[in-house]
Amino acid sequence: MGLNRRTFVSLGGTAGALAIGMPFVRPSYAQSGPLKLGVLLPYSGTYAPLGEAITRAMELYVKQQGGKLAGRDVTFVKLDDESAPPKATELTTKLVQGEKVDVLFGTVHSGVAMAMVKITKEDGVPTIIPNAGADQITRGMCAENVFRTSFSNGQAGFAVGPAVLKAGHKKVVTATWKYAAGEESVAGFKRSFTKGGGEVLKDITIPFPDVEFQSVLAEISSLKPDAVYVFWAGGGALKFIKDYAAALGGKIPLWGPSFLTDGVEQAAGAAGDGVKTVGHYVESLDNPENKAFVKLFQDAHKIPPDVYAVQGWDSMQLLDIGLKAVGGDVSKRAQLNAAMAKASFASPRGPLRFSSSHNPIQNFYLRELRGGVNNFQGIVEKELSDDTTGCKLA
Ligand code: PHB
Repeated sequence: MGLNRRTFVSLGGTAGALAIGMPFVRPSYAQSGPLKLGVLLPYSGTYAPLGEAITRAMELYVKQQGGKLAGRDVTFVKLDDESAPPKATELTTKLVQGEKVDVLFGTVHSGVAMAMVKITKEDGVPTIIPNAGADQITRGMCAENVFRTSFSNGQAGFAVGPAVLKAGHKKVVTATWKYAAGEESVAGFKRSFTKGGGEVLKDITIPFPDVEFQSVLAEISSLKPDAVYVFWAGGGALKFIKDYAAALGGKIPLWGPSFLTDGVEQAAGAAGDGVKTVGHYVESLDNPENKAFVKLFQDAHKIPPDVYAVQGWDSMQLLDIGLKAVGGDVSKRAQLNAAMAKASFASPRGPLRFSSSHNPIQNFYLRELRGGVNNFQGIVEKELSDDTTGCKLA
C-alpha cells in the first residue's frame, strides 16, 4: 500500500485494522478516505490573530457539519507562513507536492499569496483565498482553480472613498505599509475619492511590518489634513490606533478599510472611539445567517467573530458547494471549479457571489467604533464588484 507514517495516521481505523491483520476492510484511497485540506496561514507575527480567526471559523464549519464535507471525513494540514513572502514557495510546495492536499486554503498576506498562487495555478489544485487581497490574483493572474472569499485590496479601498467624501472631508493624507496590500488599498481609495473631488495631500509609507509610527504621526500633524486614510491590520492596526489617539486623537478624523478595527475593537479601548471604517462585514448585521454565525462562534470561542472569521467560514461554505456538486470526488476538478464559480449564497456579511475572475461581489458597510464595538452606520456600496482587468476567464 506504500503507507508512510503520515498517511497511516490519517487513515486511522481502517489502516489500523489492516496492520493488525483483522478481516479485510476496504482500504481508504484518496476519493473515499478523508479529504486533505491544506491550510497556509500566519500563526505568528503581526497577522497571527487573523490566521487564527480564519482557522477557527473553518474548523467550526466542519464541526457544525458533523465533521464531514460531502460525506467525507476531513483532515487539516496547517502550516505557519509567518506572513513572510520568502518562505511562501517552499511552504506551498510542501503542501501541494509533499502533502498532496486535495484543496489549498491560504493566505492573509498579499505577498505570500502571490507566490502561493503561482504554484497552485500551475498545479491546478483548487485554491481558496480567505483574506489576501492582491489585486492581480483576480485580475491578470486569475485562474480557473483560484477563488477568493474576501476582497481585492483595490475594491476594499475604493469602497471607503465615497464615505469619506460624504463626511465632508476634502483633503486627506494616507499612510500604510509599503507592500502590495497597503499600496493597492490606497490606490483604490484614491480612485473613488479623487473622482468625487477629494484631494490627497501625501501618501506616507513605512516598511512592513514596522510599527514605529512616530514619524508618520509627526508628518500627518504638520500637513493638517481634514482626515487620514490608513491601511494597517492585526497587531500593527492596534498599535497605530493607540499611538494616533495619544498624538492626534480628537483632532483629525481617522478612517480606513475595516481591517483597521476588525479583531482589535475591544483591545483598542477608548483610543478607538470615533474611528470610522468601511468594510464588508459588521457583527451586528441583521440577517439570519449572521445571527446564527455570531452565536455559534461566540459560544465556541467566547469572543465575537470578526471579518476574518467570516471569510474563513465562507471559504468552507464555498468549498462545500463545490464538493456537493461532485459528490465529494475532488478528482473532478473542472466540475468542482465550475460549481464554485457560479456559487451564490447567504454569507453572514449578506449576499455573496463571485465575479468572472472569482472575486467577491458584496456589500460594503460604514462602521463607527465606539465602546469596543464597530457600530453599523449604513450601506456604502451595494454588491460592489472589482474590475477584472486582464483576466481571460469567461
Ligand atoms: C493583504 O496582505 O492582502 C492583507 C492583509 C491583512 C488585511 C487585509 C489585506 O487585513
